Amino acid sequence: MSVLVTGGVGYIGSNTVLALMDSGETPVIVDDLSTGFKDFAPAGAPLIQGDIGDPDLIRSVFETYDVKEVIHFAGSIVVPESVEKPLDYYLNNTVKSRKLIETCVAAGVKKFIFSSTAAVYGNPTRTPIDEATRLHPISPYGRSKLMTEWMLEDVAAAHDFDHAVLRYFNVAGADPKGRAGQALPAATHLIKIAAQVVVGLRDGMSIFGDDYPTPDGTCVRDYIHVTDLAEAHVAALRRLRAQPGSITVNCGYGRGFSVREVIAAVERVTGMDLRAQVAPRRAGDPPQLVADSAAIRSELGWTPSYDNLDFIVRTAIDWERSLLAARGGSPS
Ligand code: UFG
Repeated sequence: MSVLVTGGVGYIGSNTVLALMDSGETPVIVDDLSTGFKDFAPAGAPLIQGDIGDPDLIRSVFETYDVKEVIHFAGSIVVPESVEKPLDYYLNNTVKSRKLIETCVAAGVKKFIFSSTAAVYGNPTRTPIDEATRLHPISPYGRSKLMTEWMLEDVAAAHDFDHAVLRYFNVAGADPKGRAGQALPAATHLIKIAAQVVVGLRDGMSIFGDDYPTPDGTCVRDYIHVTDLAEAHVAALRRLRAQPGSITVNCGYGRGFSVREVIAAVERVTGMDLRAQVAPRRAGDPPQLVADSAAIRSELGWTPSYDNLDFIVRTAIDWERSLLAARGGSPS
């Protein structure tokens, strides 16, 4: 029996494939390689290049690999891009998810794990954010994910179909064994950009706004190591197997760091000056996003292993160095 991992050669998907294999599972990957990398499929995890919205392909994967469970990562993830190309996001994140869920229901696949996002909360006024916080996404990205959450809820009410929705906060770092990490050259995420400065791919970096209502004026986020997040998927799978019903949990540690604190961590770890300059605010950034992580801990029995900013940053930099070496000194 195999677990289908859609988007399994992307950043979080590839780390989850490794966590599944490390825990004795047999993953099979479907990825269209639009933002994933063929080489990330480890030996023993078959990769089928294709579209999750293609029911014939998915059905044949279900049959060939005896799939009974799905972990669904495939989708588009860049918030500003979603504002420019909303229809692409509704296609990739909502319409294709609907097709995939329909194929699952028709084929009798009854357990489904969905990669959602803190962006479903929009700009909440309360912190930390628990799962009962009002859902008010402010970007097409967040809306496209929330619509899929709602579909799952409705499908679970109508069919024998249990799901786990994992709402990710700020995912960062790389596999501590150096096997997988964030490999797209066009990065927008803070820690990835800082790592690119460290390895010399950028001359410096910007701090987008220092006049927010936070302790040092810069935005605060809950950075979670990608391996801990990958383990949360393994824990969610076990939970779905062990007891009926669906769950929704935040994936974060429950503590926040400001942009300045993250930059200071990178400077501490490397002894470098990142030449960070204050720049205007970036559109759509909420001042503070910190998870209430009680539910993931109690519902999934999940305990993080890498809740340490310096460690997160170190793995991100090690990964960036190995990526650069593998690419012969060029960013892509
Ligand atoms: N930032 C900088 N300089 C940079 C890059 C980022 O100051 O060069 C700041 C941002 O303005 C923000 C913070 O660092 O205040 C974190 O930004 P990221 O781009 O790393 O991450 P986001 O918080 O914007 O995005 C994350 C997830 C999304 C999710 C979103 C919810 O990556 O998937 O949170 O708001 F949708």
